[in-house]
Amino acid sequence: MRRGGRLRGMPALSILPVVAADLPFVRAMLHEAAFWRDTAEVAAIDDALREPGLARYVEGWGRPGDAGLVARRGDTPVGAVWVRRFPADAHGYGFVDERTPELSIAVSPGHRRLGTGRCLLDAMLVQLRWSGVAQVSLSVEDDNPALRLYEQAGFAVRDAADGARTMVRLL
Ligand SMILES: CC(C)(COP(=O)(O)OP(=O)(O)OC[C@H]1O[C@@H](n2cnc3c(N)ncnc32)[C@H](O)[C@@H]1OP(=O)(O)O)[C@@H](O)C(=O)NCCC(=O)NCCS
Repeated sequence: MRRGGRLRGMPALSILPVVAADLPFVRAMLHEAAFWRDTAEVAAIDDALREPGLARYVEGWGRPGDAGLVARRGDTPVGAVWVRRFPADAHGYGFVDERTPELSIAVSPGHRRLGTGRCLLDAMLVQLRWSGVAQVSLSVEDDNPALRLYEQAGFAVRDAADGARTMVRLL
């Protein structure tokens, strides 16, 4: 195809590693993941991320094992996926063990159902395999449509309790 031909003017998709300047967006995506359900009461981002159980998914970003990707449509960030390992005494909802990173993902409302989530997830899984990571986990509520995405990507249920499942993808 002629360069700059038929695709000229189309916002380009890019998927790049999370850098410090992306952290406000990643925090916003964490908020989307935590408040995925359409409910009347959605805490503001700063209030929600004061809760230690949620804040631990992003605070102090840059620890060994932290890795993430941001998808952009043109210059606009539209989604993020990231992984982090947790200690056994302060872990996330999808904790399996201290060696297994837990994955979080969200796409901005208005940009969903276009394949971005699947693209981000696949790219993150490839990066983890490149890094020699053996498996990755996550937590998803039973009625979250994201469950289908995870099943399609090869995640299997490891544990289920209180309306949520811990899923693991072997790499
Ligand atoms: C889950 C999420 C990241 C998916 O991103 P996305 O860009 O919309 O996903 P894709 O377009 O790549 O869809 C991938 C698959 O996910 C499933 N899926 C995603 N959203 C869905 C919905 N609202 N209803 C039904 N299936 C859905 C489908 O199986 C879909 O495949 P299909 O389009 O071939 O049917 C996005 O919906 C989101 O940000 N949700 C809110 C945050 C959240 O819940 N995060 C996960 C917390 S565990």
